[in-house]
Amino acid sequence: MQTTITVDPLTPTIGAEISGVDLEDVDDATLEDIRRALTEHGVVFFRDQDISVESQKTLGARFGELVVHPNDPGLEGHPEVMIIHADESSKRVAGEVWHSDVSCSETPPMGSILRLYIVPETGGDTLFANMYAAYEALSDRLKGFLDGLTAVHDGAPYYREVNRLIGRDDEGRAYPSAVHPVIRTHPVSGRRALFVNEMFTTRIVELATTESDAILRLLFAHVRRPEFHCRFQWRANSMAFWDNRCTQHHAVWDYWPATRSGYRVTIRGDRPH
Ligand code: SIN
Repeated sequence: MQTTITVDPLTPTIGAEISGVDLEDVDDATLEDIRRALTEHGVVFFRDQDISVESQKTLGARFGELVVHPNDPGLEGHPEVMIIHADESSKRVAGEVWHSDVSCSETPPMGSILRLYIVPETGGDTLFANMYAAYEALSDRLKGFLDGLTAVHDGAPYYREVNRLIGRDDEGRAYPSAVHPVIRTHPVSGRRALFVNEMFTTRIVELATTESDAILRLLFAHVRRPEFHCRFQWRANSMAFWDNRCTQHHAVWDYWPATRSGYRVTIRGDRPH
């Protein structure tokens, strides 16, 4: 079936804006077009989506099971909906470090869908980075070295720091930790992607600590290279749907004391290989 959507790439490397769709009610053919665009561009954006939390959950659930965040209580009555909020009283914002969502899980999320309904007048953009491009830009020697290595992704250091900043007691609370390949193969595209991030990856298992620290530092700096990035400027009721298996993102907090608010749903993924 022919659909009415238009897909406009933001950069040659990552990101596309999709128009001609109402995410409140998506038919199967349009859903497949969105899935294809996500696979091709890593992250897709939508404008003017004044949809309910229930519709956002329904949309997410059509791509897979929704998961509850390991450190966020979620919206009342909707534990699988993460509140993204910052205002003048905030001590931190979600996602202010390059990361792939909850990569500390044994089965990190395949994707996340964020809708913002309050945005600052300027600022509050989100940067996205393409991890296929990051992998492909490495030298063959370094690719060969990284091939077969695994890394620890530990939720505790980051989540405990968040809790300390916002004054949330996490005494006795356990956080997920998992070991994943440094280079993963995307289950849909079959392409290889770099899969370490500054928020959660603490150590490369097969290396000595000093070696691991140096290689991770190098890879984290590599991810920050702007040619792998796109930058999304939100408007009220914009939505972003990103693939956590081949992208990372970074939310820019340059808008204090303004308010920025939205809801995120997160879709279960599989074990990276
Ligand atoms: C996140 O989900 O990491 C936050 C993204 C954002 O607020 O732009």
